[in-house]
Amino acid sequence: MKEPVVAANWKMYKTIEESVNFVEKLKKKPLDWDEVHIILCAPYTSLFEMGNSLRGDSFVNLGAQNLYWEQEGAFTGEISVGMLKACGVEWVIVGHSERRAGHKESNKMVRAKAEAAHKAGLRAIVCVGETSAERKRGKTLEVVGKQLTLSLPRNCIAKNTVIAYEPIWAIGTGLTPTADDVAEVHGFIRARLQRRFRDQGVNMRLLYGGSVKGSNAAELLSVRNVNGALVGGASLTVADFWPIVRTCI
Ligand code: PGA
Repeated sequence: MKEPVVAANWKMYKTIEESVNFVEKLKKKPLDWDEVHIILCAPYTSLFEMGNSLRGDSFVNLGAQNLYWEQEGAFTGEISVGMLKACGVEWVIVGHSERRAGHKESNKMVRAKAEAAHKAGLRAIVCVGETSAERKRGKTLEVVGKQLTLSLPRNCIAKNTVIAYEPIWAIGTGLTPTADDVAEVHGFIRARLQRRFRDQGVNMRLLYGGSVKGSNAAELLSVRNVNGALVGGASLTVADFWPIVRTCI
């Protein structure tokens, strides 16, 4: 059994104070923490203080939303894995569609980021997903398959890699694919991972992301080969996030 993962992607929301308040509120929730794994992917500016607030608590892991693949150097505005680790970060999202599309990140760049994360002992949440036009043209599996092939480094293992399937048309729109559509894509991803990474691919966790909320989490998370969720909008308050976590236990 894979312990489910619920990852929050806060995007460009929350000051340091708002981030730490969220953590303090979440820490008060009763839970058998062995049953679900929570990852909070916060803006860079909040990570250090959140790391302090989480120190000694293993129930929530800290994640970043991006990184740069070089260790250091003249790369204005970039953040390295070493800098993230020093804040207590254990996870990092790579290849989110908002970076692939909005910041022209190619599969090759996503792969370099995942590789840099793995080398430094960070775990990567690698995002894949099709646009609405691609789905309408029946290209979903082709697009996702190509992203998987080109974005995943060679040495991925179940412990250091989680795949998030996020149909781009479902992100922030309130639209979600049907359970059958999710099952089809996740089944396809599982088969691809198994073929390439053998046992490790069988055990890698696959998250669904895109308009997950309390009211649809139970249905989406019960789909075969869905091992958790990547949550944007509904992760911004504990009141919205908690019901999603609860569906996993
Ligand atoms: P959403 O975002 O839950 O607001 O749709 C998900 C994501 O972008 O990871």
